[in-house]
Amino acid sequence: MTILVTGGAGFIANTLVESILSRGDSVICLDNLSRGTVSNVARFTRKNSFRFSTVDLADLDAFRSCLDSHVDLGPISEVWHLAANSDIPAGIADPGVDLRDTFMTTFNVLRVMEERKIGELLFASSSAIYGDLGEKELTESTGPLFPISNYGAMKLASEAMITAAAEKFLDRALLFRFPNVVGLPATHGVILDFIRRLRSDPDHLDVLGDGSQRKSYLHVTELVEAMLFIQGRAAKKVDVFNIGPSDAGIHVRDIARETVAAVAPGARLKFGTDNKGWVGDVPCFAYSTAKLSELGWTPKLSSLEAVRRAIREINGQENPP
Ligand SMILES: NC(=O)c1ccc[n+]([C@@H]2O[C@H](COP(=O)([O-])OP(=O)(O)OC[C@H]3O[C@@H](n4cnc5c(N)ncnc54)[C@H](O)[C@@H]3O)[C@@H](O)[C@H]2O)c1
Repeated sequence: MTILVTGGAGFIANTLVESILSRGDSVICLDNLSRGTVSNVARFTRKNSFRFSTVDLADLDAFRSCLDSHVDLGPISEVWHLAANSDIPAGIADPGVDLRDTFMTTFNVLRVMEERKIGELLFASSSAIYGDLGEKELTESTGPLFPISNYGAMKLASEAMITAAAEKFLDRALLFRFPNVVGLPATHGVILDFIRRLRSDPDHLDVLGDGSQRKSYLHVTELVEAMLFIQGRAAKKVDVFNIGPSDAGIHVRDIARETVAAVAPGARLKFGTDNKGWVGDVPCFAYSTAKLSELGWTPKLSSLEAVRRAIREINGQENPP
């Protein structure tokens, strides 16, 4: 089978593409390289079953011509739509960022899927669609949903476009709501940010917010394992799954302490005063993954274990031997 992966040069796609190639399928990766890098896909490029093209998926004509250039790989049977803006503050500063990179990419993915009769869509959604509901346990049926970032808003709008498309032409649509995902190759996120700050100033670390923010963390290898598991087991034409660890998450202050201990022991922590790191930051979410557990998948790593592993990995990425 030939599989299209959008946002294919980014962080999560890196592990996903490896898994898809290893099951024997061909992969077309598309990315505008706004955040992803060619080096992230370099290890696949010698394979005949792998293609990479740089293209802005918000530009429908460019998207279509790009797919035309890969027709020799045969018809595409499924799309993993991972392209999006992954910088929430950038989307707060300029709402056009999420409109273009998070929503229009989805809109155009659906256009080309309808035109090319591609039936299966796997979508990278986010816990950000839930907004700030405090300690309330977030299940897939929690609502009404009031996202507090343009990123969350455009992910929710994307989910809605996808379910409407399933009514008209998709054979199947699976919506995966990710928590915070960590691991390699890191392109963004709190651990990469802390490590970079500590490498430029090993004496102190400024933490955005008061450190009381508590979030769920999942290692990227487990996220990809979970998505492929769901793809193989989910029975409904349209379904949605929270994917995350089994615990209630860890505090940002603990991530800061773990990073300092691993990267620059002795560095002083300086916290902000607000319980949000930035506008649109959800200070705390309690994520239910009961639906995924019932389907038969549970993660092996806790949030803390995933974070510790990612700190080691990302520190190595930022300080290659
Ligand atoms: N990493 C997380 O913690 C997390 C959490 C929730 C949801 N997600 C979602 O998972 C997906 C992958 O995230 P990631 O962490 O790998 O981020 P990432 O930024 O590393 O990957 C996204 C990729 O999309 C590309 N892209 C952005 N706009 C594009 C456009 N207009 N055309 C073509 N390519 C474009 C970027 O260059 C980037 O390589 C995203 O949809 C993200 O919203 C990630």
